[in-house]
Amino acid sequence: MTEILREDADGIARAASLLRAGRLVAFVTETVYGLGADATNAGAVAAIYAAKGRPSTNPLICHYPDAESAFAQVRADARAARLAHAFWPGPLTLILPRRADCPVVDAVTAGLDTLGVRVPSDPAALALLRAVNRPVAAPSANPSGQVSPTSAQHVLSRFGNEVAAVLGERTSDVGVESTVLDLTADPPRLLRPGGIPREAIEREIGPVAYHPAVEQAASAGRMRSPGLLASHYAPDLPVRLCADAVASDEALLAFGQPLPGAGAAFNLSPSANLEEAASRLYEGLRRLDADGRRLGLCRIAVMPIPGHGLGLAIRDRLGRAAAPRDGGKRLTQAATPSTSAS
Ligand code: TXA
Ligand code: MG
Repeated sequence: MTEILREDADGIARAASLLRAGRLVAFVTETVYGLGADATNAGAVAAIYAAKGRPSTNPLICHYPDAESAFAQVRADARAARLAHAFWPGPLTLILPRRADCPVVDAVTAGLDTLGVRVPSDPAALALLRAVNRPVAAPSANPSGQVSPTSAQHVLSRFGNEVAAVLGERTSDVGVESTVLDLTADPPRLLRPGGIPREAIEREIGPVAYHPAVEQAASAGRMRSPGLLASHYAPDLPVRLCADAVASDEALLAFGQPLPGAGAAFNLSPSANLEEAASRLYEGLRRLDADGRRLGLCRIAVMPIPGHGLGLAIRDRLGRAAAPRDGGKRLTQAATPSTSAS
């Protein structure tokens, strides 16, 4: 039985001792729930890939309680220091060269010489990371290719005994994953839009390159990063984007004033607020998927979302949810080096 741990001193101590013993522990962060393992323990890291059904070519990010412990394991330049100062703790993952003495096992980075590092802002996550006192590898706590979890209940509905415990009693605030920024590229490259908007990053370090996931999928062979398209973040029902009308056999994911006539609806933000919409995105997809299947609807139609601020991350996730699926099987793996997200 998976233990459900409260975010108090006892719960955090228990979660930390399970992680130090090589077990998997899901835990709340400000973005989504993570599926954590001791990043220095090869068996524990292998258990993450097995539990998620994640291709071994798709690297994991590591979590730290502060920038100092993160930058002890990667080579941070002035831009990294500046971004850490501005946005950590918070929803930003920096891809940097691993240091030679970095203790993280190779499976975490899928053999790459770079490592993704992040300092989350959720107080329970930070307390856990301090107590573990080792880097914690944690992808989102969902089976590969499926919608990310923003509550403990979401995690428990997808995993069984392979997860020793879930720490968290709250819904994740931000609701979409961290922004992933590759600082080994020049100019720096936005690999995944997320909780820290592109505009905010550019105010700190100048222009960053960004190729939307759909384009990246089209050039899969040339992709320099994993985490890029293939059908992902996907509910079971097909997804149709940029709907300007909706049919009665469709479920509507609305933003702002909802379109009339849908068979079921979920409004991401009646006031058209992008932060609110991000925080409700995965819950909305789950709800419409369940309601739509119960009511026999044929797809989820999504109203247009603006591309600024958190809108870029929302559009990215919806674009992946709508991406073609391989004969019903999700495309979680593509050409080399590796092109799946998880
Ligand atoms: O908000 C988040 O980032 C959550 C919470 C739990 O922290 N974690 C998360 O992890 O979303 P995951 O594994 O679902 O997504 C991490 C993304 C993947 O797309 C992965 O391919 C990419 O980061 N990534 C990890 N290490 C990388 C590296 N060394 N180079 C390029 N991309 C990397
Ligand atoms: Mg994920």
